[in-house]
Amino acid sequence: MIFRELNRGKCKTYLVACERTRRAALIDPVKTCAERYLAVLAYEGLKLDALIDTHTHADHPTGSFLLQDLTDCRLIMHRRAPVPVANEHVEDGDTIHVGDVKLEVLYTPGHTPDSISLYTGERVLTGDVLLIGGTGRADFAGGDAGAQYDSITRKLFALPDETIVYPAHDYRGNTSSTIGREKRQNPRIAGRSRDEYVALMASIGFPLPEKIQEVLQPNQSAIDDDKTKFPDLTQLNQVRQLSADDVSVRLRAATPPFVLDVREPKEFTGELGHIPGSTLVPLRELAERIAELQAHKAGPTVVVCRSGVRSTTAAAILEGLGFEQVYNLHGGMVDWNDRRLPVER
Ligand SMILES: [Fe+2]
Repeated sequence: MIFRELNRGKCKTYLVACERTRRAALIDPVKTCAERYLAVLAYEGLKLDALIDTHTHADHPTGSFLLQDLTDCRLIMHRRAPVPVANEHVEDGDTIHVGDVKLEVLYTPGHTPDSISLYTGERVLTGDVLLIGGTGRADFAGGDAGAQYDSITRKLFALPDETIVYPAHDYRGNTSSTIGREKRQNPRIAGRSRDEYVALMASIGFPLPEKIQEVLQPNQSAIDDDKTKFPDLTQLNQVRQLSADDVSVRLRAATPPFVLDVREPKEFTGELGHIPGSTLVPLRELAERIAELQAHKAGPTVVVCRSGVRSTTAAAILEGLGFEQVYNLHGGMVDWNDRRLPVER
C-alpha cells in the first residue's frame, strides 16, 4: 500500500493507493491544493479512484467537488453527510475498496454527525474526532461531545494499541501517534469519565473558525455561487426542529403542514425517496422561486433534505422572508427512512 500525507501543513490530506492496480484514493482533499494532487498522481502513475471526506469540514473548502468534476471519480462520505454530490454513502462496518487496499469504515460521530474514521489494519485515519494529544471541537455543525467520547473510547481505543493514528488536523507539527499513546496520554480523554469530558469541552471557549460561513455552507450544500444568500449561524440555531415521528403525526392531522423538500431532483427520486405529497424546490433555486410558495406563508411548513442540514438553511431563509411557522425535519430523509415511514420515489 502506498500511503502519504500531501499537504505538509496543519490540515492533512492522505493519499492511499494500491501498488498493484495503481488505483488511488484522496482523503480530505483541500480545494486550494487540487492541482498539486493531480500532479502527484500523474507523477506516481496513479489513477484517482475515490475521494473520501471523513466529515463535512467547517474550516476549509473541500477539494472533493472540484476533483470529482475534473476526474469523474467517486465521492464517498457517511450516509449522514448533507452534501448532495456524494455518490457513495457508507456506514459503520462497510469496506471501501481501492484496488487491493481495503479501508474499513468506523462510524465515529461527535465532531460532526457525519464523521467517519478509516482503518487499514495498521493505520487509522481519525478525521477530526481524535487528534494527536487533542480532540476535534464538538460545539457547532451538529457536534456532540458525549458522542465524541463514545466514538473515541469505544471504537478507536478498541483498536490494537500499536495502530498508527493519522488525524485530519494537527496544529503542533506532529505527523502521527498511536492508539496506545493516545489512550495513555491524550490530555482531553485520558483518565476522564464521559461526564467530565462533556463538561471540559463545554468549558473551552473556542473561537469560531475564520470564514466558517463561507466554508461550511458550500461544503454542506455543494452550492458555491453568489446568488444564494445563506443565513448566519445564529439564525440557524433558532430554527425549530421536529423529529421524523413528530412530522409523521402532524401529517396525519386534519390540517397537515406543507412539506417542502429542498434537495436536488435526483435525490428526490433517488434511494431515500421523498415524503408523499411534498413539493420540490432545490435549495439553490429557493430564493428565485419564492413567489411559488407565497400561499404557504402563514401556515405550518416542514422543510426536508437528506440529513437535515440544507433544510435548516432553507428554513432560516424562509423565516427571514416572513414565513411564520417553519420547522425543520431533524435528521432529514435519512431518519425518515430509518423510522420506516412512507416514501414515494
Ligand atoms: Fe473538521
